[in-house]
Amino acid sequence: MTGSRPAVRPARPFFSSGPCAKRPGWTAEALKGAALSRLHRSAFGRAKLKEAIDRTRRVLELPAGYRIAVVPASDTGAMEMAMWQLLGPKPVDAFTWESFGEDWVTDVFKQLKIKDSRIIRAPYGELADLSQADPKHDAVFVWNGTTSGVRVPNGDWIASDREGLTICDATSAAFAMELPWDKLDVVTFSWQKALGGEGAHGMLVLSPRAAARLESYCPPWPLPKIFRLTKGGKLMEGTFEGETINTPSMLCVEDWLDTLKWAESIGGLRGLYTRVEANFNALAAWVEESNWVDFLARDASFRSPTSVCLKITDPWCASMPEAARADTVKKLAGLLEKEGVAYDIAGHRNAPAGLRIWCGATVERADLEALTPWLDWAYAQVKSQTRAAA
Ligand SMILES: Cc1ncc(COP(=O)(O)O)c(C=O)c1O
Repeated sequence: MTGSRPAVRPARPFFSSGPCAKRPGWTAEALKGAALSRLHRSAFGRAKLKEAIDRTRRVLELPAGYRIAVVPASDTGAMEMAMWQLLGPKPVDAFTWESFGEDWVTDVFKQLKIKDSRIIRAPYGELADLSQADPKHDAVFVWNGTTSGVRVPNGDWIASDREGLTICDATSAAFAMELPWDKLDVVTFSWQKALGGEGAHGMLVLSPRAAARLESYCPPWPLPKIFRLTKGGKLMEGTFEGETINTPSMLCVEDWLDTLKWAESIGGLRGLYTRVEANFNALAAWVEESNWVDFLARDASFRSPTSVCLKITDPWCASMPEAARADTVKKLAGLLEKEGVAYDIAGHRNAPAGLRIWCGATVERADLEALTPWLDWAYAQVKSQTRAAA
């Protein structure tokens, strides 16, 4: 029994976990005011960059005293710039439970070799034991593990009177879930994630404590110009006012401004969170009913509402070796792509074989509701065809 092909298709089949769907209604018209063919340091170019910073601050409801910079090389650039400049004076507690957390562990241990550091690790689907955080240490972690769909539930485990800095990669969390700013000293994200902006640039948010570390500590290793935020021991304040370190894409800047204006038009953070929740609930309702998938994230308390990762529980697939399961997922995702109903929903290459469906605010709930019958249909197709071929 393979079921009949569903009648309704998602209007926008974009469920990738980055670059994520553009905001509803986006067309290239949104870019027409871009400061193209202009020096980014001209008054016009600078004003655009400053507006990108100021609007980001307003939409995120950042506390006073926090600085924001537009930096090169997306979220990775922002994270590595922070780690290379700030780490060293204290041991690091590196929390990891999926692929991107592992990248930062590599930086802390293999590249920077920060002495007396600790790895606090959990397997895919679980959350690392955050209670092990030592307030005397620096901490490095992702807020939302995009490749496992496991996120930090809250900031209660971070001491308000900590001595160390908390360095948080929030690229698939910012604009989609509550972030306890008073507990976070460095927050990074990229434009291509939760608001469906373009790849290329990252944003670096610094608390006053992180800024103070930058001015009081000079790492012993060389720092490429692309990472430098200080000059003569002082913060380069212009960087936080729109003077970028090197040349940005003014097309990407315009796109970021467009998506921030959309975020404002739907009620800012509250409006964004409401959309994320509605999207997640639509998909979760189907998962609860499904007899062939379940969440990879074991516990609802740490389940991501944005990068929703699913494992196949149907014994036919679940009992296969990993490579055969990966092949099944590939066929399933390939069929849905061919039908034009879902793009890019196979799980991350480093994660256990499964599906990953983005439920962030730029996705429409109706499209997720239209997608779920297609998931059932495609799985039944793949199962019956694979069995017939065996
Ligand atoms: C948690 C997390 N960190 C880092 C990255 C890398 O981001 P970028 O490619 O924007 O540097 C990603 C990308 O998906 C991510 O999800």
